[in-house]
Amino acid sequence: MKDFPFDISYPKSEHELDGTLKWQAPSNIAIIKYWGKHGRQLPNNPSLSLTLSQAYTETKFSYKGLPGSREVPKITFSFEGKENEKFAARIVSFITGILPYFPFLGGLDLRIESRNSFPHSSGIASSASSMAALVMCICDMEKEIFGLEHIDIKKASYFARLGSGSASRSIISEVGIWGYDQAVGGSTDEYSIQLENYDPVFSGFHDDILIISAGEKAVSSSAGHALMDGNIFARARYRQARNNLSKLILAMQKGDIHSFGKIAEDEALTLHALMMSSDPSYILMKPETLAVIEQIRAYRSDTGLPVFFTLDAGPNVHVLYPAFVKDEVGYFINNDLKKYTQNGKIIQDRVGQGPTKLF
Ligand code: PMV
Repeated sequence: MKDFPFDISYPKSEHELDGTLKWQAPSNIAIIKYWGKHGRQLPNNPSLSLTLSQAYTETKFSYKGLPGSREVPKITFSFEGKENEKFAARIVSFITGILPYFPFLGGLDLRIESRNSFPHSSGIASSASSMAALVMCICDMEKEIFGLEHIDIKKASYFARLGSGSASRSIISEVGIWGYDQAVGGSTDEYSIQLENYDPVFSGFHDDILIISAGEKAVSSSAGHALMDGNIFARARYRQARNNLSKLILAMQKGDIHSFGKIAEDEALTLHALMMSSDPSYILMKPETLAVIEQIRAYRSDTGLPVFFTLDAGPNVHVLYPAFVKDEVGYFINNDLKKYTQNGKIIQDRVGQGPTKLF
């Protein structure tokens, strides 16, 4: 990180630190998908997402000890009340990787307790919310112990990105854009920024997440990103993402819900087409995923109501619609879509304001 853009010249503390912080950070749903990366978690195309509010991670972060007395902090991690070796390994490697930029963490005893409001590894970006929550805790601790005025959101988004690319967008309120695009002022591959000036209909947008399968994905997102390097459609895809981003921003500024929805659906199907055209190819959609997509399209054409779908890297379907049709669409979901979900599981989500401090 030779071009590291933030100040890291901390005074060394002689005092024993002892404190606890708790943050909640949401997941986000990409409308323009990030799929393919290079370098240290840098995206091959810009992406845009809606920050959610009901699908979130809560992280309690306790620290104790004399800072800087040992290089690597002692980290204890539990997920949903239980030790989880796989997650713990990821957290330890993340914290070790960012230690040069947060040297005050060295030598501390860190107790990290995390829980999700949704099933992990189900295609909902659990790494996005968990990395965002963890980074908010670390940046908040930095603010507390050095008496900083506020948390630098860009810096938080930068470090969340190192944990998981899409996590950089979970730091942002309502609509996040990650990745440089010449048409978007202030955009950068390093961290996410907030989209400005869009029609208020998108601030109240709903995303009902139909859990088709809560099982672990057969191919992880990291493996999926890596397969883009050999995908013969990759160049065309990156060009398409840029075009779609420009069209989407225009649609959001004009309050053009139908163009927004069309782009959302095109992006979702492209994402899965890229998986199917990878070598080796793979399919994360389930028969129920396709059944739900067909039902949504039929319902839209019958009623003319603005209801659309998008997909993450998994089988679950995100049903997107504006607040003014929530009663009709709620009825449709209950009557016609719920039967395709696993045990009737639906997360009724909507656009939200980004991470919140709990204490
Ligand atoms: O942040 P990652 O590495 O989990 O990748 C996320 C990729 C998608 O969710 C499929 C798309 C996106 O932009 O969030």
